[in-house]
Amino acid sequence: MPVMTCIEDLRRVYARKTPRMFYDYTESGSWTEQTFRENITDFDRIRLRQRVAVDMAGRSTASRMIGEDVTMPVALAPVGLTGMQCADGEIKAARAAEKFGVPYTLSTMSICSIEDVAAHTEKPFWFQVYTLRDDTFMKNLIDRAKAAKCSALVITVDLQVLGQRHRDLKNGLSAPPKLTPRSIANMMTKVQWGLGMLGTKRHSFGNVVGHAKGVSDPASLSSWTAEAFDPSLDWVRIGKIMEMWDGKVILKGILDVEDARRAAEMGADAIVVSNHGGRQQDGALSSIRMLQEIVDAVGDKVEVHFDSGIRSGQDVLKAIAMGAKGTYIGRAFVYGLGAMGESGVTKALEIIHKELDTSMALSGKRDVTALDRGDLLIPKDFAGDWQ
Ligand code: GLV
Repeated sequence: MPVMTCIEDLRRVYARKTPRMFYDYTESGSWTEQTFRENITDFDRIRLRQRVAVDMAGRSTASRMIGEDVTMPVALAPVGLTGMQCADGEIKAARAAEKFGVPYTLSTMSICSIEDVAAHTEKPFWFQVYTLRDDTFMKNLIDRAKAAKCSALVITVDLQVLGQRHRDLKNGLSAPPKLTPRSIANMMTKVQWGLGMLGTKRHSFGNVVGHAKGVSDPASLSSWTAEAFDPSLDWVRIGKIMEMWDGKVILKGILDVEDARRAAEMGADAIVVSNHGGRQQDGALSSIRMLQEIVDAVGDKVEVHFDSGIRSGQDVLKAIAMGAKGTYIGRAFVYGLGAMGESGVTKALEIIHKELDTSMALSGKRDVTALDRGDLLIPKDFAGDWQ
């Protein structure tokens, strides 16, 4: 295995080892992928100040997200199909996060079930739900997350309809995947991945199959997913889901100041500024570009988190200095997982931690919680310039 020095190194190995359809699922944005690309290029436009001759001994990246201690303000984002990127992927990622001291968020559309992940971890993890039409199934999911002692419910609010990702359609990446001779031939070349999959029974959506009405086996999944998401989602329904849970709530997928104000009024513990990794509204502004305005509007009322575009510790520094209290990585940990399993997720976290710690020191800051906008050079056109 070559030496891995950055997240891009992990991505390259991941690309080699993973069946094309699952790699493409990770690497796709919706439609033209403009928003997907700008999530990254807009980060590059923010620069860091370089400060010298400040005592940098005894630095700390430790912080808190929704009242939970974290060794750095970086959570693992909910990612559907993680267990197809690598056998038992959700369990491996959750264990790596737990050992590192950062939150893990399990997706509803995971391969390993809530109960399975709980059985293989010690500390509580967070559970993500979409707003689904089937109220009974949602209630059941929420009860299962409570029984598994999940410490927060992450409600995804930006996926009542699905943004189109061309490559997923071309590859037959649906639920369940349509296996074409071409994709099977491609899978056969991914030996380590294949051996891992042969060695596990976890191949389908563990939270859904056997639990949702009419989904007794993987084959019945596709009609379920076509109908599952609730296009009539509104704030009243979000309020009802919050009541069902009656615990800490994070509303994920806010990209607009008006929506952020409304979300803050709902009494959520945190909101996540996110455009779903550029996978939903193509043409929307990048997440980092919207962060300042949203923090300024609601940062005194609700904890603001940041998602979409983070590929380095420098990116984490930028989001935190702009005012986010926590950040999420999705693709960055999936690259590690597909490249090296559990140790690859740990590697991704180590890389980001080292980058954050070092760039913090070079910014003249000893404590991650002391970062502020004065540490950044933010392009003038970044906020408030759009009609
Ligand atoms: C689902 O949330 C996805 O982005 O694929």
